[in-house]
Amino acid sequence: MIYVTRKASFSAAHRLYNPTFSDERNEAVFDKCNNPLGHGHNYVIEVTVKGLPDPLTGYVIDLKRLKDLLDEFIVDKVDHKHLNYDVDFLRGFIPTVENLCVLFWQQIEHRLPSGQLHCIKVYESDQNMAEYFGDPVSLPTYDLSPAQNRVEVAS
Ligand code: NI
Repeated sequence: MIYVTRKASFSAAHRLYNPTFSDERNEAVFDKCNNPLGHGHNYVIEVTVKGLPDPLTGYVIDLKRLKDLLDEFIVDKVDHKHLNYDVDFLRGFIPTVENLCVLFWQQIEHRLPSGQLHCIKVYESDQNMAEYFGDPVSLPTYDLSPAQNRVEVAS
């Protein structure tokens, strides 16, 4: 088996909170990431596809096609967006790096032209990242619509 990896990056905003928690509990659990008006990250994702090289091309997967898939189904949808509100396939999910791994996986697994999706890594910073290998997981959704995002702007 050969493992082929493509990297991509995007910048986006998010706010981590659970609308079923009190404001105090949200602040205690999510700390700085609970900042009411959100905050930004420069995200990096690494997508690894495994397989055997095609005897005619030597490719497990054509990395140009993988790049195009990542652009169309992930990067173009999340870059310069607010992950809580703007992205159809993220709607209702708390936008942690853990959850992003799973939801990005679901965006591309069934679209690969060859090979098999092996791993998705999402870096939120140089220090924080999560990786996902496709184990079954079901993620709860919440009402994260702006109306639920109790924001008080200091005057
Ligand atoms: Ni954050």
